[in-house]
Amino acid sequence: MTELKGLRAVVTGGASGIGLATARLLAGRGADVAVIDLDPAGAEAPLRGYRADVTDDAAVRAAVDGAARDLDGLDILVNNAGIGAIGTVEDNDDAQWHRVLDVNVLGMVRTSRAALPHLRRSRNAAIVNTCSIAATAGLPQRALYSATKGAVLSLTLAMAADHVREGIRVNCVNPGTADTPWIGRLLDQADDPAAERAALNARQPMGRLVSADEVAAAIVYLASPAAASVTGTALAVDGGMQGLRLRPAQG
Ligand code: NAI
Repeated sequence: MTELKGLRAVVTGGASGIGLATARLLAGRGADVAVIDLDPAGAEAPLRGYRADVTDDAAVRAAVDGAARDLDGLDILVNNAGIGAIGTVEDNDDAQWHRVLDVNVLGMVRTSRAALPHLRRSRNAAIVNTCSIAATAGLPQRALYSATKGAVLSLTLAMAADHVREGIRVNCVNPGTADTPWIGRLLDQADDPAAERAALNARQPMGRLVSADEVAAAIVYLASPAAASVTGTALAVDGGMQGLRLRPAQG
């Protein structure tokens, strides 16, 4: 399929997991794709890699402007780079709060700020933010992480309102627990990784984790001209975790 031919995209955190799956799918559909990442080595050709930390405003501006120059413009920004945090509101110190908010929320602010002048020149301008089910459901031991993703959800709506008359659409996806290197690292830290994986699977009504490719498909839809009338929405890709209330399985 080549329905994105002629469109130019930047994906942050595009060297691993959901971001890498998204960058590959965008390229597979015909888009020219740049990846901005702390370590862009994972983004193989035809993806173009740009090294930047989304907490560094000057580096973000240089990477976004460099990508837009090399791609000859910019139509799609996928704000996906993010990090996790574990604990209740008592468990993370101020430095951790500042750090995770800086990456997960201000990171999207910085890339969006740098991308908007380029997006204003596009005829299919779209921003897609990777939010989380943690924005819409109370999950234990995720106070700081959830606060950042709640902010991403509200930021998505506010940006959609601010830029709708400029022809720039802004949406987000809310993945449930997705089988990415991130979750692999989390499972490795657990006392019993197999039991932890079984518990995460069981939390999803579909009984399994979401795949990175499934989240990528939702992001690419929201970024594509097929979603030309879609803005200010959060698309859940969570195996039914947010919306369904099942009875316990009968034995
Ligand atoms: P991942 O750890 O596999 O990939 C994240 C990528 O972001 C890595 O390539 C990393 O180098 C990059 N990155 C991290 N900090 C960065 C920074 N400061 N500057 C530039 N790049 C940076 O993670 P995954 O699972 O693919 O997560 C991607 C997004 O999806 C995150 O925003 C996460 O919050 C969100 N998400 C993940 C879920 C999951 O279960 N895996 C569920 C819901 C949301």
